[in-house]
Amino acid sequence: MSSHAVVRDDDYVIDQNWSAYTADEHAIWDFLYRRQREMLQDRADPAMLRGLETLDLNRGGIPDFARINVELKARTGFEVVAVPGLVPDEVFFNHLANRRFPAGQFIRTRAQLDYLQEPDIFHDVFGHVPLLTDPIFADYIEAYGKGGLRAIKFGRLRNLAALYWYTVEFGLIETTKGLRIYGAGISSSKDESIFALDDPSPNRIRFDLERVMRTGYRIDDFQQTYFVIRSYDELFRATVDTDFAPLYSRLGDGVGYSAENVLAADGVVARGTQAYFKAKSEG
Ligand code: PHE
Ligand code: CO
Repeated sequence: MSSHAVVRDDDYVIDQNWSAYTADEHAIWDFLYRRQREMLQDRADPAMLRGLETLDLNRGGIPDFARINVELKARTGFEVVAVPGLVPDEVFFNHLANRRFPAGQFIRTRAQLDYLQEPDIFHDVFGHVPLLTDPIFADYIEAYGKGGLRAIKFGRLRNLAALYWYTVEFGLIETTKGLRIYGAGISSSKDESIFALDDPSPNRIRFDLERVMRTGYRIDDFQQTYFVIRSYDELFRATVDTDFAPLYSRLGDGVGYSAENVLAADGVVARGTQAYFKAKSEG
């Protein structure tokens, strides 16, 4: 899983080349920014919305990493670095472990406004970077990077990837005002921002480390289950205070729980109907 046909000895970092973005590319960012900012008003975790303000990501146009890194570094020591697209696991983990968040340099085209496969600058910067201003969340991401390098040695990347998927990408958090979004895969998507919180189809289940690390997931559609944390501190403690070595040997090979099932031991926040997916498989 961790071996790659093309081995490069560099860190995949490229120049963002900010001055080369076209007027239309800046306009695509502005369109997406405005649409999601409005959508997330009562949907995203307030910490995420504060991060957008702190980094001044709404000032118009694609953000210049050199500019946002000044404030980000001052807050948590994190910086954003540009990469061409998805990078090999080891390279990715190495960046996180050193408090560098690799972000796609390119922006989606107008034909892909609602969905694209590879993470672009809008997903990475609008979705992921705001929470890197939160000290505990930033610590979690660094620890995750270190954990990733360790998981490679144990051959347990699938389990660790499930953890990332159900927290950093598709996590929900409980607040005094109800469930809120913190996962970047949700917050950067117009349709999933609605689906994850409001649709009766998906399960919403309390975060449990081992449960999450055994759960499969879909990469090409909305999630069938979202896992809910109470705080970033809960997430941080559950993962950082646990030595994953015994956990990995317990987990066995791969992910045994299917994405849609509710288990007897689950803390059920809301049991989903799975109607969305049933309609699809019948259709
Ligand atoms: N505690 C994990 C280990 O022992 C490392 C880790 C921390 C992984 C935080 C993910 C998130 O491997
Ligand atoms: Co992402």
